[in-house]
Amino acid sequence: MEDSTSSSDELKKKKKKEEDSEHEKKKKKKNYNNKKGALGWVEWLRGWMYVIHEMLFQRIMASHLQNPIPLPPVNDLTCIVTGSTSGIGREIARQLAESGAHVVMAVRNPKAALDLIQKWQNEWSGMGLPLNIEVMELDLLSLDSVVRFAEAYNARMGPLHVLINNAGIFSIGEPQKFSKDGYEEHLQVNHLAPALLSILLLPSLIRGSPSRIINVNSVMHYVGFVDTEDMNLVSSKRKFTSLVGYSSSKLAQVMFSSVLHKKLPVESGINVVCVSPGIVHTNVARDLSKFVQAAYGLIPYFIFSPQEGSRSTLFAATDPQVPEYCELLKADNWPVCAFLSQDCRPTNPSEESHNVETSYKLWEKTLEMVGLPLDVVERLLEGEQVACRYGADSTD
Ligand SMILES: NC(=O)c1ccc[n+]([C@@H]2O[C@H](COP(=O)([O-])OP(=O)(O)OC[C@H]3O[C@@H](n4cnc5c(N)ncnc54)[C@H](OP(=O)(O)O)[C@@H]3O)[C@@H](O)[C@H]2O)c1
Repeated sequence: MEDSTSSSDELKKKKKKEEDSEHEKKKKKKNYNNKKGALGWVEWLRGWMYVIHEMLFQRIMASHLQNPIPLPPVNDLTCIVTGSTSGIGREIARQLAESGAHVVMAVRNPKAALDLIQKWQNEWSGMGLPLNIEVMELDLLSLDSVVRFAEAYNARMGPLHVLINNAGIFSIGEPQKFSKDGYEEHLQVNHLAPALLSILLLPSLIRGSPSRIINVNSVMHYVGFVDTEDMNLVSSKRKFTSLVGYSSSKLAQVMFSSVLHKKLPVESGINVVCVSPGIVHTNVARDLSKFVQAAYGLIPYFIFSPQEGSRSTLFAATDPQVPEYCELLKADNWPVCAFLSQDCRPTNPSEESHNVETSYKLWEKTLEMVGLPLDVVERLLEGEQVACRYGADSTD
């Protein structure tokens, strides 16, 4: 009798457990269905208004800026500029070098960079000391290459004062492509690889402190949306277009930078800033049809030259007030990192970038994708060595 009572109790417990787990499953499913799968149309419309506003009024908004923008003394700075063979990055590297900084051009085509240095040295000769500028190879489509670059730079045991993550792609109209690491190319070049580079270079940034990480972002992040369960944009939830790939990668960069900004204590002296360069006439439009490229060149009044487009990044990289502003945001526990618009004024990044829960999920997902442990920043700040899944003895 006792046996049958206890087994009936057992059964009841089991049934209750099953019911609970069924309820839990239903709740999870409901949450999943309720979860936002894309930008709401009001946010989407507002995002496009920002883009159009920038396109039409950037010149008026930036009319208070000189061109080129005057820089404070930079003789003591060492700056890495990724993607400095073309467009905005090329201008940034040249102006920093001509103002006396030590510049490392981090590029995938070292021959093109060496030719540029030769040209700049010739143009500069007789104007002062030769430019202090060098080339290191970096291909953001290969995470192995990113690790090799960071290891080679850190091995110098020298300081890094400014890392400018400028290189980027917007493969307009092209079909979806994946890197050899298996990641959608916009995601890898515009977000994953710069994120990995920023973290791996922390030991050098610590040596250079006060130092800065500047991410050349875009007003297009206002129309971006990040789904951490579909970073590669392969589910049927969202159809891939280069616009979706580009805008999502730029939003991912703002969200990742916001978490990094919070994880770096004020005492570290390292600040993270995202900037919008404006709408700039560069090679970024290289994939547009010849007709559209011609039209692009016909509207110079609205579109910035690369020199004009370099101003917000150069300001973010060198202005003495920028660290104070970043520290203020930290003290206020502001959910996003500093974002400067093309007119060098602080601005609020997109509403979606304020989604702290998604930002932290994206942080974890990004570290998992680039092969780093979740406590990597804390460990590097402690002076520990941290291994990455990529880079080990690879030679490609
Ligand atoms: N132009 C605009 O209107 C605009 C607007 C908003 C934001 N932005 C952002 O500004 C940044 C600079 O773009 P840009 O307009 O100056 O374009 P760009 O003229 O096409 O320059 C892009 C640079 O990135 C480099 N790059 C591309 N893929 C790379 C890779 N896998 N590894 C290493 N470097 C790579 C390119 O190298 P190669 O020369 O070897 O190709 C080039 O030097 C990008 O982040 C872009 O998203 C531009």
